[in-house]
Amino acid sequence: MASAGTLDTLELYWFALDLAPAAVAGLRGLLPAEECARADRFLMPEHGRRFTVAHARLRALLAARLHAAPRELRFTHGPQGKPALEGAPLHFNLSHSAGYGLIGIHPQRELGVDIEIERAQLDVLGLARRFFTAREAAWLAALPDEARRRGFSRLWTCKEAWLKADGRGMAVLDHVEVELGAGGARLRMEAARRCPEQSGHPLPPIEARPQATSGSDPAKSGEPPRTLAAPAQEWFVRELDLTAGYAAAVVQAEPPAAVTVVRLGTEMELPPAVLNPSASLAAAGPPPSTTTSAP
Ligand SMILES: CC(C)(COP(=O)(O)OP(=O)(O)OC[C@H]1O[C@@H](n2cnc3c(N)ncnc32)[C@H](O)[C@@H]1OP(=O)(O)O)[C@@H](O)C(=O)NCCC(=O)NCCS
Repeated sequence: MASAGTLDTLELYWFALDLAPAAVAGLRGLLPAEECARADRFLMPEHGRRFTVAHARLRALLAARLHAAPRELRFTHGPQGKPALEGAPLHFNLSHSAGYGLIGIHPQRELGVDIEIERAQLDVLGLARRFFTAREAAWLAALPDEARRRGFSRLWTCKEAWLKADGRGMAVLDHVEVELGAGGARLRMEAARRCPEQSGHPLPPIEARPQATSGSDPAKSGEPPRTLAAPAQEWFVRELDLTAGYAAAVVQAEPPAAVTVVRLGTEMELPPAVLNPSASLAAAGPPPSTTTSAP
């Protein structure tokens, strides 16, 4: 029987997307016809190959847990396009950027993951003024030049992982504010104050979560009280330092009991816990390519 730890383990898998042609061809065999057709519609063949690898990895990981064939899995999509497994209570999220992909899986709760390549040519301050809260933009502007691109990517991936966990898309972007401190990232839920040049728009309500806790006390910090769309709450966010030149993050509404991070190899080999879904990654201890950490 599975232990409670198994049931509350957040599993993260990251992997290279640029594989040898023979490996891509093998992975393509895990996709159903409609996903092969989607891969073939990319204008750049490289993008189609990356799509194939990412979606084959996702199907293989999920199918192993469900004792199903990867190409037989069926997905449904939320109003903003968030995919979910049809008829199976297993939560997952996929992200891919340039040469790398990231997949998160949790047996009980929604999650969002994001991986982004750090792009050299971005106008990070312009984008921050457009998409970030005033406080986030000010934090970024105060960084030394050489640290700003990394800071931008860290903020961006934390925000986007939250957007993807929430599933409602860009309309709720200003419900979340990221604080990057010495202890790592924190997320604040609020109708964040936006930069002056941004036009306001009515915010959809945030669902109240009973486990909500407030991390900061405005009275003590000297900040003006905020008008919240829902009680302040703190989500679990974890930044992932996976490989040079990329930022990545994962978000869940509640902290999991354990987090495992596995790098998948270029072959289609899978870690033992995936081949044997009843085994606990946390209890069994990590395979060589795995790091395990408490949240
Ligand atoms: C889904 C979304 C949130 C992420 O897009 P992205 O960064 O381009 O792509 P990612 O690789 O991280 O994620 C894509 C995957 O997420 C999943 N996905 C799609 N819609 C989703 C949604 N609404 N919620 C969660 N996951 C979603 C899919 O598996 C998708 O894979 P696919 O495109 O190969 O089918 C995108 O639709 C979006 O709205 N982006 C807004 C970007 C932005 O301005 N962010 C501001 C951050 S400050």
